[in-house]
Amino acid sequence: MRELFRMDRKNYNPEGKVYKRPSARAVILKEGKILLNYIAKHDCYEFPGGGIEAGESPEQALIREVAEETGRVVLPGSVREYGIVIRRQQDSKDPDGIFEQENYYFRCEITDETVPRKPDEHEIEDGAEPVWVDSLALPIHRNRRAFERIGEPFMEREMRVMDRVDEDLRKQCYEAAEKDAVRALGNADYAGMLAFVEQTLAEMQTETAKGAHKMEFGYTRYEHTKRVLGWTKRLYDATPDKTGLRYEELMIAAIFHDVGRGAAARQGGDHAKAGVPITRNWLLSAGYDPERTEYIANLVGAHSEKWRLKDPSTDRNLVMLMEADLLDDMGLLGIVMDTLIVRARKPEATFYDCYSHYERYTHPMQHDCPVVTPEARAFWNEKTECTDRFMEQYRRDILIGGENYTGYR
Ligand SMILES: [Fe+2]
Ligand SMILES: [Fe+2]
Repeated sequence: MRELFRMDRKNYNPEGKVYKRPSARAVILKEGKILLNYIAKHDCYEFPGGGIEAGESPEQALIREVAEETGRVVLPGSVREYGIVIRRQQDSKDPDGIFEQENYYFRCEITDETVPRKPDEHEIEDGAEPVWVDSLALPIHRNRRAFERIGEPFMEREMRVMDRVDEDLRKQCYEAAEKDAVRALGNADYAGMLAFVEQTLAEMQTETAKGAHKMEFGYTRYEHTKRVLGWTKRLYDATPDKTGLRYEELMIAAIFHDVGRGAAARQGGDHAKAGVPITRNWLLSAGYDPERTEYIANLVGAHSEKWRLKDPSTDRNLVMLMEADLLDDMGLLGIVMDTLIVRARKPEATFYDCYSHYERYTHPMQHDCPVVTPEARAFWNEKTECTDRFMEQYRRDILIGGENYTGYR
């Protein structure tokens, strides 16, 4: 089983006799909730489970402990390894000995059946009760508090394992939600196109010197691509009059719009133009109709000509693609991005340094709205309202009398 982490006090004689007390604990997720044991006495939580008795396997102990503590029945065959935490410290009874605890964690499912709980004296005294939680975030927070107050090693261990489980689950959930959203866009090829663009962009340093500031932190073109796809869909849905809009072509153009970043960084030239042959080749070899392919490739090739937004004769599809591209990196995402840039340039940056950057760069960009359609302007204004409100509050936080600050004087 993989080791999650080790808690080693190193306060023992390494040659000493080892006293083992292994345990098994269960990570049970059902309908979006996690089953924990709440310990009222300390206001903290632990995964259900406990000591492995002589002759028991970790899995057997897990099944028994879950039933005793929570009254729930582990589904046979659903138990799978999650990870192990090893704790070592001087034994409390034998000062020359080592206390070693191997804590085995498993993921498992439960049946709908319930059985009578059999809490032991200890659990009754501590007021242990099974609870279902929507998120591990609050239990982690409370365990940290309890550990600071009481300092029991199990509190630290459970807090750290919960943190790992929470991180893993959230990542899986984001990925699954995104997959569902891509599927809902309606074309089974989109996932393959995205994978191709991701790989193409990952293979090379994609930013040219002009856009290099984004390379100072973890900005990736692929993440930007996904966000632009999201904005294209949002704009499409928000537009009541769909005359002349070509949904499929728009979605595909959004996916491919920056695929030429890497080629342009290598050979120089416009990244939009560099994306044309890449897009064309992919679509033709996937059997897309040549007229349609050419139309999409042209959208990709023209997407950086943002001045065409002001020209009323510009194709509505190109306008929508360019507006989606512009809506990304704005609003609160822009604030976070600019904060990362400030920090990357100056690791000792203060709150004031960030504020100054927002006032000088973020704010003017947000107030120089380049998008033209009412739908895009509505989204833009929504973002601007958020950044304005953020800056107002932030200024009040960092400056004495910040609420009365009026700029140059
Ligand atoms: Fe672009
Ligand atoms: Fe872009």
